[in-house]
Amino acid sequence: MGTPPSKPPPGSMATQPKLVRTLRGEALSPPPMWLMRQAGRYLPEYRAVRAEAGGFLSLVYDPVKAAEVTLQPIRRYGFDAAILFSDILVVPHALGQDLRFAEGEGPRLEPIATSRDLARLRPGATRPRYTQVAETVSRVKGGLPRETALIGFCGAPWTVATYMIAGEGTNDQGPARLLAYRERETVTALVDMLVETSIEYLGMQVEAGADALQIFDTWAGSLPDDELERWVIEPTARIVAAIRARHPEVPIIGFPRGAQGSVSHYLARTGVDAIGCDTAMPLERMYELGATGKAVQGNLDPLLLVAGGSAMATRVSAILAAMTGRPFIFNLGHGIVPQTPPEHVARLVELVRKGGNAL
Ligand code: CP3
Repeated sequence: MGTPPSKPPPGSMATQPKLVRTLRGEALSPPPMWLMRQAGRYLPEYRAVRAEAGGFLSLVYDPVKAAEVTLQPIRRYGFDAAILFSDILVVPHALGQDLRFAEGEGPRLEPIATSRDLARLRPGATRPRYTQVAETVSRVKGGLPRETALIGFCGAPWTVATYMIAGEGTNDQGPARLLAYRERETVTALVDMLVETSIEYLGMQVEAGADALQIFDTWAGSLPDDELERWVIEPTARIVAAIRARHPEVPIIGFPRGAQGSVSHYLARTGVDAIGCDTAMPLERMYELGATGKAVQGNLDPLLLVAGGSAMATRVSAILAAMTGRPFIFNLGHGIVPQTPPEHVARLVELVRKGGNAL
């Protein structure tokens, strides 16, 4: 597919959304900003639409309501990017794995313990659910100001596999790590299936209007280096190469949470355009990573957004000062937590926009 007509021709950099310019290596002041989980339970208008939908998954698969909650934080705060409202577990669900989100609990899936469980998945059956998500993307695109980028996403194969194997969130991803040692072929087959389906899923999001993509690898940090190579770096590199071949103009952000020591290697080997840094990444290290010409994103502690006040302001200034001159995207180091006061987010936006200008 060619470039959609809504995008300016290559070369007219100044008319591109700030987020896209940064992802192509420009250092902007103030930096563009968005927040992981910017649509969610901390917003009363989100809770209202979720209640109307009757549940989280019904919300995700309703393109009108999902588009509405994607746009809510943009209207309220004017972020530089919207992120599609969906979930990384839509992929296993579309593959035919049972999924529930019970109120006040995390996700629950039917666990995959053996190759027999794997045989029940249906990689050919994903289309109807992916199509619903693609419809949300095109609706959001139609409702966004031109200067606001739209980010599509998927979970990285390893992180998605940890939920598929355990059937729920775990503290140490023990079930997936153990299965990977005991039944290498089963986990290889699962990860291969996830690579293929993620390529299809991300490709559809781009074709529906996503300007950039993020690959969430929340549990990359639970692996020793050889396992990281096999389950995180190599599968992510395959996804990036395939998307790049189909859509060379769309930048990709990788977020290998907790993989500190391996982040340079991840950046070089996977071919992503930008690295999302978690809360524990030292600012000097983030500055160094920006020397590769690739963009760096992060990394305010989501709990500072709950605390607010001078603790938050001091750290925001430190982050902005540390990243001056680098292609940098202001974000949190992980998702917004539900107890975040919405007025602290408004204050954060003000601090980043003013602080960035003062530099
Ligand atoms: O960032 C956004 O605003 C876009 C939407 C988005 C959601 N989940 C919505 C959501 C994105 C990008 C995700 C990614 C996601 N989902 C990840 C990777 C990033 C991370 O946070 O580590 C993971 C691991 C998941 C899986 C998942 N989804 C869990 C473990 C949970 C339960 C925990 C919780 O916060 O309730 C979810 C549910 C979920 N996904 C909610 C939202 C807004 C809350 C559900 C609700 O409204 O009841």
